[in-house]
Amino acid sequence: MDDNRHTKIKFFSGEEVPLEMHRARMVQRINLLPIGERLKAINGAGYNTFLLANREVFLDMLTDSGVNAMSEMQYAAMMMADDSYAGSETFFRLSAVLGEVFGTKYFLPAHQGRACENIIANTFVRPGSFTIMNYHFTTTKAHIVRLGGSVIEVACDEALRVESNCLFKGNFDMDKLEAAVKEVGIGNVAFVRIEAGTNLIGGQPVSLSNMVEVSNFCRERGIPLIFDASLLADNLFFIKTREADYANWPLVDIVRKMASLMDIIYFSGRKLGCARGGGIVTSSDEYFNRMRPLIPLYEGFLTYGGMSVREMEAMAVGIGETLDMHVISQTPLFVNALGELLSEKSIPLVRPFGGLGCHIDASRFVSHIPQEQYPAGALAAAIYLIGGIRGMERGTLSEQRNQDGSEHLSAMELVRLAVPKRVFTLSHMKFVADRIGWLHGNRDLIGGLEFDEEPDTLRFFLGRLRPIGDWPNRLANEFITHMESGM
Ligand SMILES: Cc1ncc(COP(=O)(O)O)c(C=O)c1O
Repeated sequence: MDDNRHTKIKFFSGEEVPLEMHRARMVQRINLLPIGERLKAINGAGYNTFLLANREVFLDMLTDSGVNAMSEMQYAAMMMADDSYAGSETFFRLSAVLGEVFGTKYFLPAHQGRACENIIANTFVRPGSFTIMNYHFTTTKAHIVRLGGSVIEVACDEALRVESNCLFKGNFDMDKLEAAVKEVGIGNVAFVRIEAGTNLIGGQPVSLSNMVEVSNFCRERGIPLIFDASLLADNLFFIKTREADYANWPLVDIVRKMASLMDIIYFSGRKLGCARGGGIVTSSDEYFNRMRPLIPLYEGFLTYGGMSVREMEAMAVGIGETLDMHVISQTPLFVNALGELLSEKSIPLVRPFGGLGCHIDASRFVSHIPQEQYPAGALAAAIYLIGGIRGMERGTLSEQRNQDGSEHLSAMELVRLAVPKRVFTLSHMKFVADRIGWLHGNRDLIGGLEFDEEPDTLRFFLGRLRPIGDWPNRLANEFITHMESGM
C-alpha cells in the first residue's frame, strides 16, 4: 500500500493543512477561565505549569505523554483484557505484536519509560562509568547520575543551533563519538544510547543512515547499543518523508531495520502506542537474563510489569497503528501548521519544526531575562496566564544543579507546546498563535522567576517559584485593556 497517499490530497487554493483522516466520536469539554482566575491559578501553582490542575487549563500542551487520543480499536481491545497476576493472555498478545513490529525475541514489561530506564541503568551503569548519547532526556540522565555514572552528549553541532537547515538534528557526530570513547576508554562505557525524536532539543529526528553508522561503530567495539524508541512515531515519519533512501520503504521494514541495529530497545508506552505503560525488547539472551530479575523487584510480575492489562491491550493495538502513516503524520503535520501560524507572528522557534510539539526559543522571545532567572519557565507561566495554554519549560529549570550547587545553564531555553496525537483542531492552533502573538508584542512586561522551594532531583516537576517583581499583575492588566472580556 502507498503509505503517503494522504499527502496527495491537495486544496485547490494550494493552502497546506494537516487534513485529519479520522473523525472525533468522543469529546471532552474544556473551559477557558477568565484571566483573573488564571492569575490566581498560576500563583497557586508556584509558577510551575506542572502544578496546575487540569480544570484550570484550556489547552493542555504540557506533553503528549499518556494524553494522545486512542482509536476505537484500542478501546475495543481494552474490553478483552485478560486479568491475572501471572501468565495473562494480554501479555502474550502484546509480546507477539512487539515481536512482529521490532523482530525481537523478548519483551520485559515496565510501567512507563523511566521505569525501563531504571532497569537498564541498574543493569549497565557502574560508579565512574560513562553513557554516551546524542542528547540526554531528564529522567534518563537522573537514573544514570543516581548510580554514579555520567552522561556524554555527542549530537552533531547543528543539534544546538536553534535555527538550522539540518533535517536530522538528532544525529550523532561520529567524530565526537569516537573521541569520547577514546577519552574514557571502551571498558568504561556503560552503553551508547540513541534517542529517537530527540526530546529536549525540539523533537528532532535521527536518520536511519546515522543509526547504521552508530551501530557499526558499537558492534566493532562490543559496546551495547540501546535505543530509546519513546518518540519513534515522529522519527519514523521524518525518515519516511526526509530521508530519500527510505522514502519507498514500507514503515514496517524501516522499523525492522532500525531494530536490527540495536541491542536493546525501550519505550514509554505513554508515547509510543498511545496508551499508558512501557517496555523493553531485545533479542539478546544475555541482556534479557540480566534485566529480567529486576522486573518483579521494581515493576511487578514478568507478565504485567506494573501495567493494567487494559492499557497493555490498548498499547498492543496502538503500536501496530504506529505503522500507519495517517496515524504518525498527525503530530508532525500539526506541529508544522502551528509553527507556520506562529511564524506569521514573528515568534522565534526551533527550526526545522520537529515532532512532539512546537518549541519556542525563549532566549530570543524574552531576551531581557537572564538565564539564572529561568526565562523559559517565566515564558511558560506567561503563556498560561494570557491564554490558559499549558506548555512545558525545557531549559535551565529542567536541568539539575552542578555538584557544587551552581546553576547548570541549559544549552537552549525552550518552551514546548506539545501537540498530542489527534487531540486538537486547527482552530485551537489559531487560538494559540493569536494569544502568543499578542504576548510577543507585550514581551517587555514579562519578568523572571526565582525559587521558593527547590527539590534536589528533577526540580522542574515539583519546584515552586515566585515572580521577580509584580510582572504577572501588570501583564494581566495589560491583557484586560486589550481584551475586555479577560478571556
Ligand atoms: C525520549 C524519552 N525517553 C523517556 C521518557 C520517559 O518516559 P515516561 O514519561 O513514560 O516515564 C520520555 C518521556 O517524556 C521521553 O520523551
